[in-house]
Amino acid sequence: MSKIAIMGAMPEEIEPLLAKVENIKKIEYAKNIYYEATYKGKEIVIAYSKIGKVFASLTATILLEKFKCEKLLFSGVAGAINPDLNIGDLIIADGLSQHDLDIVAFGHPYGYVPEGEVCISTDVTLRTIAKEVAKRRGLTLREGVIATGDQFVANSERKEWISKTFKADALEMEGASVAVVCDALNVPFFILRAISDTANDDAGVDFDEFMVGSAKISANFILDMVESIE
Ligand code: ADE
Repeated sequence: MSKIAIMGAMPEEIEPLLAKVENIKKIEYAKNIYYEATYKGKEIVIAYSKIGKVFASLTATILLEKFKCEKLLFSGVAGAINPDLNIGDLIIADGLSQHDLDIVAFGHPYGYVPEGEVCISTDVTLRTIAKEVAKRRGLTLREGVIATGDQFVANSERKEWISKTFKADALEMEGASVAVVCDALNVPFFILRAISDTANDDAGVDFDEFMVGSAKISANFILDMVESIE
């Protein structure tokens, strides 16, 4: 049975998890807190990284290398790009790109650095489990590209550019960096987001209003998945 990492970026993204798991043991490490716990007999480790790609890479690496987690699930919120996505809707990443990675001056495409990939794919088995959970619960689960950058996008032009350049359906600030870490360490990973805003000019206001509710929707879905993971 695998030890499962569940990470978020903000406290609000992991609080609904901590409210439901059992046997919590708090461990301080590298200026962060990691929560070892159990859920339905499964061993898990929960942490929030703080916002952005650097903190997310650090936390993902620690979850895999120090805590020896064998699978990683990310739970959180995102800004919608695809117009079919509304506040509270769930999206899973089939692939993730860094929209702010730019060495185009050297003839490379956006999101690419030598020896890297523009889009990193998530684990197919974990995605299948998510689709089964969605079906059981009668929920709509969208699957698509998620674009990541160290930028809260609250601008329609930037959103359109990310949409066009990466064929992305949603955007956030951690997923692709977690993907880089898990891919390098060969650990199956899964990124789930519930929509908190539409990344347009009102995104900041919408985020403040809907983030907590959407984070809870995502966290509850993740816990349903944990039961089905071998
Ligand atoms: N996470 C949720 N909404 C976001 C947005 N508009 N930009 C970046 N990350 C987000």
